[in-house]
Amino acid sequence: MKLKTLPWIPFVFFAIAIGLYPLMYFLVDMNNNGLLHGKPAAIKNNPVWHTIFYLHISFGGIALLTGWSQFSKKLRSRYLKTHRWIGKIYVIAVLISSSAGMYIALFADGGLICVMGFGILALLWFYTIIKAYTSIRRLQIQEHQRWMILNYALTFGAVTLRIWLPLMQNAMHIDFIIAYRIVSWLSWVPNLIVAALIINKNKLVRVNETSTTGSLVV
Ligand code: HEM
Repeated sequence: MKLKTLPWIPFVFFAIAIGLYPLMYFLVDMNNNGLLHGKPAAIKNNPVWHTIFYLHISFGGIALLTGWSQFSKKLRSRYLKTHRWIGKIYVIAVLISSSAGMYIALFADGGLICVMGFGILALLWFYTIIKAYTSIRRLQIQEHQRWMILNYALTFGAVTLRIWLPLMQNAMHIDFIIAYRIVSWLSWVPNLIVAALIINKNKLVRVNETSTTGSLVV
């Protein structure tokens, strides 16, 4: 196995594992587990919140399950049509899940810190997918790639949240609500920094390739 493919293993594993996690809400009675357990009855029994919550988790799951494959150069170059189709599904999933996310963020546990953390994340998630889509419509491929890297880094916040939260509660013994306030930011701010570093590295590779070959490789 090539060294380059190693980071793909945890990346794909977590995207699929957490992408499938919303299925639990359809298969198991989650009223006494997870988020719904601690939610006030007035919120979780409200039909509007309930519907929007289910839209958020279902389409969020689809976004995680579809998005990772789009970063494979091999898949992109061999199956461009499939890349376009999966891309369309991903864009629709993010548009629905982020819009729903903005609404449910208003009722997040943990008060204003979580409302802001999840709310800003939902806004950025929506904004970056619009930028990624409009740039590819204008055939700006590099712009499209950059916005998609940023966007999927935000999608991946669903994964990092579910790594940080149990770690803080079980290994660091931090109270749930404090941990939840921290992860409402920690789940996505570092992801954006990593995404910015990847974008920067890609730019440097392109500059080097241009200066040695005289042509730009996308
Ligand atoms: C990246 C942008 C996202 C935002 C802004 C966001 C926002 C939220 C908010 C505000 C809640 C409710 C928290 C509360 O009421 O305390 C929530 C819960 C949830 N979200 Fe997201 N979310 C995002 C991505 C995703 C993705 C990609 C998935 C796919 C797996 C997902 C799946 C869930 C699930 C399953 C819950 C229920 C809590 C649990 O059981 O862990 N979310 N999300």
